[in-house]
Amino acid sequence: MNEEMRYLTFALGKGRLANKTLELLEEIGITCEEMKDKESRKLIFVNEELKLKFFLAKGPDVPTYVEYGAADIGVVGKDTIMEENRKVYEVLDLGFGKCRMCVCGPASAKELLKHHEMIRVASKYPKIAKEYFYNQKHQTVDIIKLNGSVELGPIVGLSDVIVDIVETGSTLRENGLEVLEEICPLSARMIVNQVSMKMEAERIQNILQALKSKL
Ligand code: PRP
Repeated sequence: MNEEMRYLTFALGKGRLANKTLELLEEIGITCEEMKDKESRKLIFVNEELKLKFFLAKGPDVPTYVEYGAADIGVVGKDTIMEENRKVYEVLDLGFGKCRMCVCGPASAKELLKHHEMIRVASKYPKIAKEYFYNQKHQTVDIIKLNGSVELGPIVGLSDVIVDIVETGSTLRENGLEVLEEICPLSARMIVNQVSMKMEAERIQNILQALKSKL
């Protein structure tokens, strides 16, 4: 391996996506033994042989690290890419973490989506909610930002509907809510810094080709 080669840095969204990503990278011979130690509080991991670095970050911060070039490559959900709207290249759909961004609520709220009524929409994704209601549905709504357990919104009377991720649908079912409209499908995506894509074209293209052959 060339001594002069710079490190390629990966930023991975913490949690399930990171584990899936590491499994996939392992399939193409990219490993990071250091990262497998679950007890470790280390934030950054190195594979000296391949000149790669990996770090875990909060999902919404991944596109930020990649836009600024602190990471060359990131893996994060499409929901986060849409919400953060950073200047990065989205290069690959990794096919896992599949779910849907939906408008959800009690069945009785269906009517409220038909007549351009001023309704309240709670979401962890205020930009996605705004883009959908204002630009696609042409419905002016009041958007309320929440940080989790968004399904509470309609249950406790904070909002009429929510914009949230639906995977199995069980959180909705168990809380008497349902999908009212589907906004878009989601999954884990690989993103790349715009400068890295040119400066490290060969290494990045090789990784992408290898990943594609496994998908
Ligand atoms: C996500 C999402 C839904 C749930 C959907 O929440 O916001 O609440 O998962 O999954 P399901 O359709 O399989 O039930 P997450 O667990 O990430 O936590 P949060 O509610 O705190 O955001």
